[in-house]
Amino acid sequence: MTRPHPRQGLPLSDLDVLDRFGDDLRTAGYDSTGVPELLGASAHRALARGELAPALRATGHRSELAVLVRLFLLGTTEEEELVGRALPMTGIAAAIAQGLLERDGRDVRAALDVRPHADDTAEFLLVSDLDSDTRPGPVRADHVLGAGAASITLARAVIREPTGRALDLGTGCGIQALHLSSHARSVVATDTNPRALALAAATARLNDQRWDLRQGPLYDPVAGESFDLIVSNPPFIVGDGERRFAYRDSGVAGDGLCRALVSGVRDHLHPGGTAQLLANWIVSQDSDWRARVGDWVADTGCDAWVVQREIADPAEYVGLWLKDSGEADQGGNDPAVVELTRRWLDYFDREKISGIGMGVITLRRADSDHPQVTLDEITGPDVDVTGPEAAAFLARRAWVVGTGDAELLSTRLSLSAEAVLEMRALAGHRGWTTVLRVLRRTGGPGATLQLDEWGQALLGGCTGDVPLRLQIDLLATAHGLDADALTAAVLPSVRVAVTRGLLHPVPD
Ligand SMILES: C[S@@+](CC[C@H](N)C(=O)[O-])C[C@H]1O[C@@H](n2cnc3c(N)ncnc32)[C@H](O)[C@@H]1O
Repeated sequence: MTRPHPRQGLPLSDLDVLDRFGDDLRTAGYDSTGVPELLGASAHRALARGELAPALRATGHRSELAVLVRLFLLGTTEEEELVGRALPMTGIAAAIAQGLLERDGRDVRAALDVRPHADDTAEFLLVSDLDSDTRPGPVRADHVLGAGAASITLARAVIREPTGRALDLGTGCGIQALHLSSHARSVVATDTNPRALALAAATARLNDQRWDLRQGPLYDPVAGESFDLIVSNPPFIVGDGERRFAYRDSGVAGDGLCRALVSGVRDHLHPGGTAQLLANWIVSQDSDWRARVGDWVADTGCDAWVVQREIADPAEYVGLWLKDSGEADQGGNDPAVVELTRRWLDYFDREKISGIGMGVITLRRADSDHPQVTLDEITGPDVDVTGPEAAAFLARRAWVVGTGDAELLSTRLSLSAEAVLEMRALAGHRGWTTVLRVLRRTGGPGATLQLDEWGQALLGGCTGDVPLRLQIDLLATAHGLDADALTAAVLPSVRVAVTRGLLHPVPD
């Protein structure tokens, strides 16, 4: 029996077919344990890099699981009889009618990407469109993105603490909403693209989750409503405002969409609520990115931690996104690609855009007269912004800001167990002269601090046994220094060290 569904005509609107499809996948062991086991670690890693050949080699047999992997992850065309055996409850005719499979001559192939996806606590099934690695050529204009690198970056950056109402703005296939469901009491997920909402609804159903799905741009679908947590991986691409692909182009020129996303956030956060957004911003020839993004954030009155993870030069940026959409699949000298590139780079030139910054913005509605805003440039592969790091950073900075000098001096501080001191020395006729001392916390984004010799001595002595004041006095006496002058010199570094998790206050 077919139940009524408001998204008639869009893929997977028949809930009975969808439920039977979920049963088929589970029966075949199509999950985040079964698929990697079938592929083997090396082919599985290759697949994550978008290299399909090792996985094709590993699935060259006729088991139901191998057929499902080839269909939905590798984009192959398969014999109808084999697919019928792999999807016995769904049935080929229903799968085709529901936009899950399509005919390719006498055989069939997937019309959607369906993949297992897991985090540390749960595993899911995710429904999206096939990307340009699997189905070459430009993707459709209403393409629904799967679990891309940006999606994973945001999912890792979100603070996963139990929370009340959560909003996923620009949900796409629903990947952020899926993760939110593990720690939010309720989830509202929005998108402008009806196809995205249909696939997000399918993702929710396959994972037995309930989201309030709404259509509309930016905050329109949640006018007058507030949330404890807002997350968004928006269509952040910086361009001239032409809208070629819904997942990528907002239709707003420059970085206007990201600016609007940030400036609207406060009106939709409960007091104390948090927003975590991916964004791109213009780096122009004559101003610092910090001034630009700092202005966006200042307008919100929220506490903020903005991390620029990468900066792309214009040609690199355009090349990346033309490849992502499959527009460049005919080769870089395809006249259409050359023309698109020319128009895009001309726009960057006209606007004096010398680069595009990409990063993560964390905002917390603080309702204070002096919001705390930190703008960091943190690059490198092993210093991701993670949820625990973002939460700890906000808490440590709040402690530092709320702690006066006298209280700080009476606090016992201990050096992080993960801190390492890196030193650089130059050889001279009297032996080595240390020219650089950097304290670094392994894996901590932004957790570095340059020290002088007094800072090195002081922080090295932070064992949590005596108050900071006594430590400074002992150091001053040992080296014949003025204790007040030494205090004034080292306190700013101590504050940074606590904010960055290099030093921890020891509770009394
Ligand atoms: C980059 S995709 C992100 C999808 C998914 N949330 C993720 O993390 O992978 C951006 C999504 O925002 C949607 N979108 C485009 N313009 C929008 C707008 N003005 N307001 C809300 N969503 C929009 C697109 O349709 C697309 O699904």
